[in-house]
Order: sequence, then structure tokens, then C-alpha cells
Amino acid sequence: MRLFFALWPDPDARNLLAGVAAKLRLADRSRLVPDENYHLTLAFLGEVPDSRLPELLKIGAAQRAPRLEITFDATEYWARSQVVAAAAQKTSPELLALCEQLHTDLALPEQPNRRAHVTLARKVAQAPVLQAMSPVSWSASSFGLYRSDTSGAQSAYTVVDTWQLLDET
Ligand code: 2AM
Repeated sequence: MRLFFALWPDPDARNLLAGVAAKLRLADRSRLVPDENYHLTLAFLGEVPDSRLPELLKIGAAQRAPRLEITFDATEYWARSQVVAAAAQKTSPELLALCEQLHTDLALPEQPNRRAHVTLARKVAQAPVLQAMSPVSWSASSFGLYRSDTSGAQSAYTVVDTWQLLDET
């Protein structure tokens, strides 16, 4: 199974991000990500044997993180991965802490210093002209473990389990 921990935008944030994606002027061969597939990856595991699932579910359930306020305020083109992403110029310490804790618990190498983002388009071979975007704010109240099936033209994602983020007391 190909697995990753992620935040999935609620319908409001998803619609606003889809509005940003609709305004991108991309070359024909670029592929817009279907909005139901939008996600913010917290920790990418890749292919893991089914036998590891109980351990991963335990790690997800053990996280104690607050609700996460995320503001996507820039569209960016990342040439190496050939994507256009809606990125947060400032990543909150709480979001960084959750990413770091997951990486530690999963014994994953430290993640490269990439900003919190949602990928809006893939296979973008040439740098598009990007316009300023109206900020999209999202208050994430849960995170989850997701399975990715990359056999089709577009990746298909299914939820394995989700956990609530904690209300501040
Ligand atoms: P991205 O949108 O930021 O590129 C599920 O496969 C998600 O995990 C992808 O959408 C991708 O997030 C991220 N991902 C895929 N391969 C990865 C890798 N090798 N390292 C880190 N993240 C990866």
C-alpha cells in the first residue's frame, strides 16, 4: 500500500482553492488536480507492507496537535517536481510540530524544507505566468492516513482513518 498522512481541505477551502486553480493559465499538457484530491501532505510513507498498518494507526491516534490555521497566500511553480502549488508563505509552528512529530514517530528522514502547500496542477513542464492570489484561510480540524492508488491517469485517494485535532483549551 502506498500511504501518507495528510490534511484534507474542508469544502469551503477546497472551493476557494479550486477557484485559484481555475485561473491558472497552464499549457495544454499540464494536468489540474481534481479538487476532491487536494491535500496537504504531512508525512509521505510510500509503499509499505500491510503488516505495518496497525503500527501506523497507533501513531496517528497518538498525535496530540491543536486545530491548524493555514493561510495559502501564494501560487508557486516548482520546476523540479513540475507542479503548481498553493503555498503558505508562513507555516505555523503547530503545523511544523505535527509534521516533525510524525516524521520522528514514523522514523522517516527529516523532510526537506518545503512550505506547507496543496498541489493544484501537475506535469507543468514550463514555468507559467502566475498571478497574485487572494489568500485562502483554512482551519483544519482533523488529519488522516490516506492510501494512494497511482495506477490510473489521476491518483485516486482513499481514507484509511482520520483523527481529530484538538480544540485549544
Ligand atoms: P505533493 O502534492 O506535495 O507533491 C501522496 O502521494 C502525496 O505525497 C503526493 O501528493 C505528494 O505530495 C506526496 N509525495 C509523493 N511522493 C513523495 C515523496 N517522494 N516525498 C515526499 N512526498 C511525496
